[in-house]
Amino acid sequence: MDDMNKEFLLDENITFLNHGSFGSCPKPIFREYQEWQKKLEKQPVQFLTKDLYSSLRDSRVALSDFIGCNNEDLLFFENPTTAISNVMYSLDLDHHDEVLMTNHEYGALVRAWNKWNKKNTFFIKKQSIELPIKSEEQFLENFWEGVNEKTRVIFISHITSPTAIIFPIKKIIKRAKENGILTIVDGAHVPGHISLNISELDCDFYTGALHKWLCAPKGSSFLYVKKDHQNWLKPIIYSWGKYGDDPGPTEFLQDFQWQGTRDLSSFLTIPTSIKFYNNQIKPYQDKCKKMCLDTYKRLMSILNTMPITKGEKWIGQMISHPLPKDIPSNLKEILWNEHKIEIPIFNWEGLDLIRCSFQVYNKDEDIDSLIKALESI
Ligand SMILES: Cc1ncc(COP(=O)(O)O)c(C=O)c1O
Repeated sequence: MDDMNKEFLLDENITFLNHGSFGSCPKPIFREYQEWQKKLEKQPVQFLTKDLYSSLRDSRVALSDFIGCNNEDLLFFENPTTAISNVMYSLDLDHHDEVLMTNHEYGALVRAWNKWNKKNTFFIKKQSIELPIKSEEQFLENFWEGVNEKTRVIFISHITSPTAIIFPIKKIIKRAKENGILTIVDGAHVPGHISLNISELDCDFYTGALHKWLCAPKGSSFLYVKKDHQNWLKPIIYSWGKYGDDPGPTEFLQDFQWQGTRDLSSFLTIPTSIKFYNNQIKPYQDKCKKMCLDTYKRLMSILNTMPITKGEKWIGQMISHPLPKDIPSNLKEILWNEHKIEIPIFNWEGLDLIRCSFQVYNKDEDIDSLIKALESI
């Protein structure tokens, strides 16, 4: 792991503690991405009308093996926002219906839910999750208090963005299923971060970003759609569908795969990204988690603030920790401008949180730099 930073394109003169926002693409994967783009430009017509489809299938098959589902139930999207927006657009909800989410959901998607619901047809309920989270039982009961006879949809993160918590979604999905509630999981941070088996989870929809922890090039994400819903889920963008060049295998895939001319190269690097993850990232993930836990302890000690979860099972390679009330309001800028540390700070529910991400290119010295900078401020 010591030399892994050489495999990435990141500027060596900065301390990068924000893999969580947009990931970072390793050099071999980025090279392959550019190779696909060159292939396209060499013979655009042959590539976009013929060769593309078998390569997209290879990517679907590799990804379906990696995340435990059938390859024909997977659609590629540039990002989770587009993927989830497609689901929102097709939902048939009326004023008797409620969509339940937590207060830890990703802000842009909460906004998207509100915008798609512009006529206020249905009710969006945000269930507050008590902090610190101490046990699965406490979490489950706390979340389930938001359910009533009107709840039709549960929208929930698998790993949350501002608070970086792994939510125990399996039990929620099971209970939702018993109650006839549709489950839409936002797993933007999951692929390549914690293990994922969608068939075991048995949710209705699941989106994940591949350019974050799987380190694919930007613009590579997926949506899993359970078979039962493939007849009513419609694309926001209609194009040729079954009348185009895509040879199949289903009208569902044909409708979503070709959405007008675009660069699909990032999707074609998925098999290579999975190989890179298995060989170069997976063996070091425990070390990254240890860095997380070390940082946790050091932040607690210098900031004198309490963690938002209790125990290790809630975190992966990211932690969010509360900052004291008297921090400078431009702390993020100070860390970047004066210390060249890239790290996000969120104001979430009135709490200022600093979120540290650790990927294989990070070193213990990165934690030292952060602690030293915070001490000096
Ligand atoms: C939990 C979560 N969901 C969804 C997204 C959406 O990603 P994008 O803006 O790329 O669609 C993010 C991005 O960081 C995220 O953290």
